[in-house]
Amino acid sequence: MGVKIVETSLRDGHQSLFATRMTTEEVVSVAKEIDDAGYHALEVWGGATFDACLRFLNEDPWERLRAIKKVCKKTKLQMLFRGQNILGYRHYSDDVVDMFVKKSIENGIDIIRVFDALNDIRNLKQAVISTKKYGGSCQIALSYTTSPIHTIDYYVNLAQEIEKLGADSLCIKDMAGVLLPTDAYKLVSALKKNTNLPIELHSHCTGGICELTYAEAIRAGVDIIDCCLSPLSNGTAQPSTQAFNTCYKGTKYDPKLNPVALNAASDKLGKIRDKYLANGLLNPKSLCINPNILTYQVPGGMLSNLMKQLQDQGQIDKLDEVCKEIPNVRKDLGYPPLVTPLSQMVGTQAVLNVLTGERYKMVPKEINDYLHGKYGKAPAEITLDPAIVKKIVGDDEVITCRPADLLEPEFESLKEKYKGLAKSDEDVLSLALFEKVAAEYLEKKYSKAEVSEEECDEVEEFNVILGGN
Ligand code: CO
Repeated sequence: MGVKIVETSLRDGHQSLFATRMTTEEVVSVAKEIDDAGYHALEVWGGATFDACLRFLNEDPWERLRAIKKVCKKTKLQMLFRGQNILGYRHYSDDVVDMFVKKSIENGIDIIRVFDALNDIRNLKQAVISTKKYGGSCQIALSYTTSPIHTIDYYVNLAQEIEKLGADSLCIKDMAGVLLPTDAYKLVSALKKNTNLPIELHSHCTGGICELTYAEAIRAGVDIIDCCLSPLSNGTAQPSTQAFNTCYKGTKYDPKLNPVALNAASDKLGKIRDKYLANGLLNPKSLCINPNILTYQVPGGMLSNLMKQLQDQGQIDKLDEVCKEIPNVRKDLGYPPLVTPLSQMVGTQAVLNVLTGERYKMVPKEINDYLHGKYGKAPAEITLDPAIVKKIVGDDEVITCRPADLLEPEFESLKEKYKGLAKSDEDVLSLALFEKVAAEYLEKKYSKAEVSEEECDEVEEFNVILGGN
């Protein structure tokens, strides 16, 4: 059996290259060709796709999922799920996690890839239980990073815990694209030897080494690789599907995807990419190689966010200093992997440390919560100066249990809270995750629907109340 491929252009591809702005219409327009190609699965949904639908595209993310499912009859659909954060930024109670998993599967998801930024498996437990309960396939992702504690042994131990937890497969999630080819060979070999789980590799081309990393992982026996169709491949995204399908043709690793279907999908995706190049949302810089990320160990998306933050404040000349401060903040905080939400948190703290000229003079609420244990257990000991910790935490109690154990069930109260606006459990979940943007979206959506049902003269009146379009 050859190496399997998960197509990521409809989630990570456009997220990495042009801020997740592909519309549902565009996604659906290529879905048939992609579905015909013979992939292991299609990654189509996650936090940013959900958020961007509501915030920028004026679309219902649940409708997108159903629309894709309607077209993709042959291939499994996959989503990315941020453990107890679901797709949001705070910890949700177990019943909300459960309901979200239930509705995701009902609306078309087959495989749920769950990860926790800190690799605290207590934060994955409920998502795993719920995925199994509703008949989904549960993949757990190790957030890959490098630090003195993130050794092969560390990942093997974690993988064995994950296997015990009941995962169906395991993903090495190298969100920053910092996994080196030789390390990939060692890591995949060790995981294959010490677990029975199928292993998938997810990385990014940002540093210019990703194809080599995948090739070494394949040599070590990796089962599945994440790739993007050529128009949305490389740069800050995944390597090209066609490259791997072509170069392993006729070997024991042959992915055996249908090249005709791949070309047909690429023709369409190429036109979509050109649109975003022309309107400026796809910055050609995102398509370039940036070896600095291998030095700074900063994900591509985080680097572009930092550049924008600094540019907005007229402080872009401080970029180098901020990038050097990031590893220091990571060390202070016990080496959290730089993945959402930790990448934003560590990045913001590094910016503040540099711009204020005094380390931890200003501390964002999220870092404050982190130091209170509200995100879970730090991978290594927190080595931040105890005097600074004392200043931030004061006499408060620091949480050492699973953070969600302290949360009361909240789905019913959320339902009650949003009863005037939500027309389905899916709406309640959208509101629970992205309250303000979801409320604005749903208000527009439902008032529009009411308008179209009204008689003509009443429509006029309604428009006046709304202040026109
Ligand atoms: Co990624």
